[in-house]
Amino acid sequence: IVVPWTAELARKEGFPHYMLKEIHEQPRVIAETIRGFGPDYERGAELLSDAEVIYVVASGTSYHASLYFALLTMKIAGKKVIPLISSEYAGYVSSASERDALLAVSQSGETIDTLMAMRAFKERGVRTVSLTNVIGSVISRESDHQVYMKAGPEIGVAATKTFTVQLTALTWLSALIARNVGAMDEKDAESLLERMKKIPDLAEKVINAYSGWCKETGTFMSEKSSAYYLSRGLGLPIALEGALKLKEIAYVHAEGYPAGESKHGPIALVERGFPVVFVSVERELEKKLLGNVEEMRARGAYTIGVVPQDSELRGHFDREVVVPSSDEVAVPILATIPLQLVAYYSAVERGLDPDKPRNLAKTVTVE
Ligand code: G6P
Repeated sequence: IVVPWTAELARKEGFPHYMLKEIHEQPRVIAETIRGFGPDYERGAELLSDAEVIYVVASGTSYHASLYFALLTMKIAGKKVIPLISSEYAGYVSSASERDALLAVSQSGETIDTLMAMRAFKERGVRTVSLTNVIGSVISRESDHQVYMKAGPEIGVAATKTFTVQLTALTWLSALIARNVGAMDEKDAESLLERMKKIPDLAEKVINAYSGWCKETGTFMSEKSSAYYLSRGLGLPIALEGALKLKEIAYVHAEGYPAGESKHGPIALVERGFPVVFVSVERELEKKLLGNVEEMRARGAYTIGVVPQDSELRGHFDREVVVPSSDEVAVPILATIPLQLVAYYSAVERGLDPDKPRNLAKTVTVE
């Protein structure tokens, strides 16, 4: 008898790829991150709450989490937040002052563009807070205050669990800022935390209920050359991330776009069978999003929806995932998981190694 056992397989705990293992780890690491909400979050939120303007800088997937943080903090705390792609900091830094604060978000804590952006803002007297997954990383060392998430090591080059953990950590920072500035009372902040604690079980449900669906959808996507991922508001960063995953590991050209903006260009490419994924997160934006779904359907697009339980959009797509929650705190995190799995299965179907996409590195240390 030959037992196909290798050290590598053992580390993957029976999963064929690290990416799939890491997607499955999300319920546990989200729970660990929530358990880790402590004084570092309080102090970080305090620093950010005192600022006139909060800049949030990051690259890649971390940028999508940062955009989510900016939109959420403006919505629930009424605080001015400017999200920045790290490599684009130069155009913004000259208007920053010592009354402002900067939040640098980086899984590795080593991305050179994010480090350079942070240094440039620091030079202007801006106070800095970092959110990283690696204790002692250069971005955390050089920031005035460190906040950590607890995703554990991520081996797959394309970020998965670190994204949902960033969303988790950043949601709590937003809530603390809202509380600090008086936009949310202590009780509401506590109840938000209780609601967040339900996310790990719900995430488990999504993985169990939709893995088969995602495999079929992944097979469908693997035969396409192009796809759009559209959303509005707080759903947009999730759509952007879904598109990034598909292009990173399955090499299918995918664009994440604001749904309302898609009629100014992207719609020109839509013909029969063109896949358009819609992500819905905010109830109040669904009427408008439905208009965009109909525009795409009218041009023959094949529409795929990822929507909350109480969504008005249910039944309006060719295929859909209904995430098992209507809570706006949980839905963005839950909606991410099927998009990760669709990208994963598309890559596998195309015979690619999702753990090692060509031309990409886990940590980018060149500008
Ligand atoms: C690389 C990785 C991405 C990651 C980005 C930012 O491009 O391939 O997965 O999102 O860097 O990395 P960071 O460690 O700063 O979050």
